[in-house]
Amino acid sequence: MSQPLINLIDISKSYDGSTILDELNLSVRENEFVTLLGPSGCGKTTTLRILGGFETPDKGRVLFDGRDITKMPPNRRMLNTVFQKYALFTHMNVADNIAFGLQIKKKSGNYIKDKIKYALKLVNLEGFEKRSVSSLSGGQQQRIAIARAIVNEPKVLLLDEPLGAMDLKLRQDMQYELIRLKNELGITFLYVTHDQEEALTMSDTIVVMNQGYIQQMGTPEEIYNEPQNAFVADFIGDSNIIDGCMIRDELVEILGAKFACVDKGFGCNKPVDVVIRPEDVDLIGPEEGTLSGVVSHIIFKGVHYEMEVMAGGFEWLVHSTDCFPVGTRVGIHVDPFDIQIMNKPESEDEEAIGTDE
Ligand SMILES: Nc1ncnc2c1ncn2[C@@H]1O[C@H](COP(=O)(O)OP(=O)(O)OP(=O)(O)O)[C@@H](O)[C@H]1O
Ligand SMILES: [Mg+2]
Repeated sequence: MSQPLINLIDISKSYDGSTILDELNLSVRENEFVTLLGPSGCGKTTTLRILGGFETPDKGRVLFDGRDITKMPPNRRMLNTVFQKYALFTHMNVADNIAFGLQIKKKSGNYIKDKIKYALKLVNLEGFEKRSVSSLSGGQQQRIAIARAIVNEPKVLLLDEPLGAMDLKLRQDMQYELIRLKNELGITFLYVTHDQEEALTMSDTIVVMNQGYIQQMGTPEEIYNEPQNAFVADFIGDSNIIDGCMIRDELVEILGAKFACVDKGFGCNKPVDVVIRPEDVDLIGPEEGTLSGVVSHIIFKGVHYEMEVMAGGFEWLVHSTDCFPVGTRVGIHVDPFDIQIMNKPESEDEEAIGTDE
């Protein structure tokens, strides 16, 4: 594996005595699409600002291509940032905004004109050159901010929730465009979102953060299928998170019933967190299930039905393409490999990290 392009080493940052980032370590390889994902206030923007040079860490180092850039001003870093709140120049029109960085680099008029045209096409705003920024909608301004960053052909793009103000269809189009940019221009992305679906769609690597700590780092598949703790499981997609007891290897007790699983090495009679995705709960005949219960709620979601099933004193969230009307008696079955067993947080400290406020 190639050496990382970006290294954040033991980064700590406090504001007014409260710790925002605590010895955070993160590395990004060239041409990798890395997404920081986490609840509001967990330190995503702060991490990006430190990497972009808009904030100095209290402790730790930022390396770019092996060089220490911790104290280097933003304009000398080979990074371009699109901020969470679009920071366009409101007294300039669209074309002048996009041209700004290129004019500083003393590019020719024709080159700049071509670039503006190319960038506007990319963000689906052809012909917007002369529009004043203040006449644009929020989503249009975000797209101009992306266009402005792209024309500079940065090695790395830092994007802080760049698609937040766009509707679903436009957001999906822009997601494809950004992935295309990554593939065609070889740009490295550090992307911030709190939309887990967006993170799963776009990323090579997802970094799940909570309260200034990295909870888990991995491919979308790893994060979704093998969450390391209940916080990650809960944050990425819907989950049933249930107190359980590992009776022995490959057997766990949940809600008074014994479920076969594939996990080993947790010990005997050990309290654990059990995570089961709603699409992995099979509803069968009431007598055939490991547990039986009653459907208490159902809504149609397009591709599937989302149901709540009261069974064993727990309200199970179930996704199924089959419809079970409210009041239906059902049995609950879960295939052994669809049951994820997790250690409960051991210390109070760990508990605090794993708790979403
Ligand atoms: N300049 C500052 N002065 C004081 N506190 C700050 C400052 N910047 C950020 N914070 C605090 O640091 C914490 C992390 O903020 P940050 O902006 O990094 O969160 P975030 O993960 O980007 O959240 P969001 O998803 O809401 O954008 C928050 O509690 C915020 O109030
Ligand atoms: Mg933020």
